[in-house]
Amino acid sequence: MSILTAENLSMVYGSKSSMQYEALQHFNLTVSSGEFIGIMGPSGSGKTTLLNLLSTIDTPTSGKININGSTITSLAKNKLAKFRRKEMGFIFQDYNLLDTLTIGENILLPLTLNKVKVKEMEKRLVIVTKQLGIDAIIHKRIYEVSGGQMQRAAIARAIIHDPTIIFADEPTGNLDSKASLQVMESLSKLQEVRKTTTLMVTHDPFAASFCGRVIFIKDGKLFNEIHRGDNRQTFFQDILNVQSLLGGNMDDFQTIRI
Ligand SMILES: Nc1ncnc2c1ncn2[C@@H]1O[C@H](COP(=O)(O)OP(=O)(O)OP(=O)(O)O)[C@@H](O)[C@H]1O
Ligand SMILES: [Mg+2]
Repeated sequence: MSILTAENLSMVYGSKSSMQYEALQHFNLTVSSGEFIGIMGPSGSGKTTLLNLLSTIDTPTSGKININGSTITSLAKNKLAKFRRKEMGFIFQDYNLLDTLTIGENILLPLTLNKVKVKEMEKRLVIVTKQLGIDAIIHKRIYEVSGGQMQRAAIARAIIHDPTIIFADEPTGNLDSKASLQVMESLSKLQEVRKTTTLMVTHDPFAASFCGRVIFIKDGKLFNEIHRGDNRQTFFQDILNVQSLLGGNMDDFQTIRI
C-alpha cells in the first residue's frame, strides 16, 4: 500500500525570471507503508528542497503530493498545520530540543500539543524510551546528556504521537561514528517494530546503509535508486558505487566507517 505519492513535483526558487532556479524538476516518488528511504545526492542537488515539499514546510511550484489519502498540496493552511502535527514527525541534524525542558518533557511535546491525557502520555513515554535505550535519562536536562542521547530523544519525540511518516534531515550529521551507529540502529529497530514510514536525507553512506531503499538525486532529478538485500555491508558498498558514478563535491564523501 502506498502511503505517499508525489507526482510531477517542480520547485522554482526566485521570482524574477533572470534569478529563477529550478531546484526540483518533474519529480515522481511513490513510498510504500513501512518503507525506510534514504535520499542522497551532491550538495545543491535538491534533497532538502524535496524533503521540505513532502513535509509541507514549502509549497511546490507545480505538482501534487498525497499522503495517507490526503492531497496535501491543496489543503488550506490551518488544515495543513493540523495534518502536520498529527501525521508527521521530524528529526533534525541539530536535534531541536528545548533546553529549558527535561528529556522526557521534550519527548512529550507532540502529545501535549495534541492534548493527550497525562496517564496515556506517561505510558507512551516509558515504551518509546525503553525502545530507544534512553529510559534512564528522562529526568535529565539537555546539557546533561550526550549528542547521541539527544538525537535518540529527538527520535522519541518524532515518533511518540504515532505519525504516519517521519522526515529526517541529516540525523547523524553532528554525531561521531559510535553515536551514529547507536542512532541508526535505534531508528531502524523502531522502524521495524512500529512499521513507521521514514524518509531520511543524508550525506553519510553508513547511515544510508540502514535504509531499505536509497534514492539518488542529481540536478533536481532522480539519478538512480537502489534496494537493500539481506546484507547491510553489501548495500553500503552499492551506495558508495552509485556515489562515485554520481560525482559531486568531495566534501560529500565522509570518511568510510563500517
Ligand atoms: N530559498 C532558496 N532560494 C533560492 N535558491 C535556493 C533556495 N533554497 C535552495 N536553493 C537552491 O536550490 C538548489 C537545491 O538546494 P537544496 O537545499 O535542496 O540542496 P541539498 O541537496 O539539500 O544540498 P546540501 O547537501 O548542501 O544540503 C541549490 O542550488 C540551492 O542553491
Ligand atoms: Mg540540504
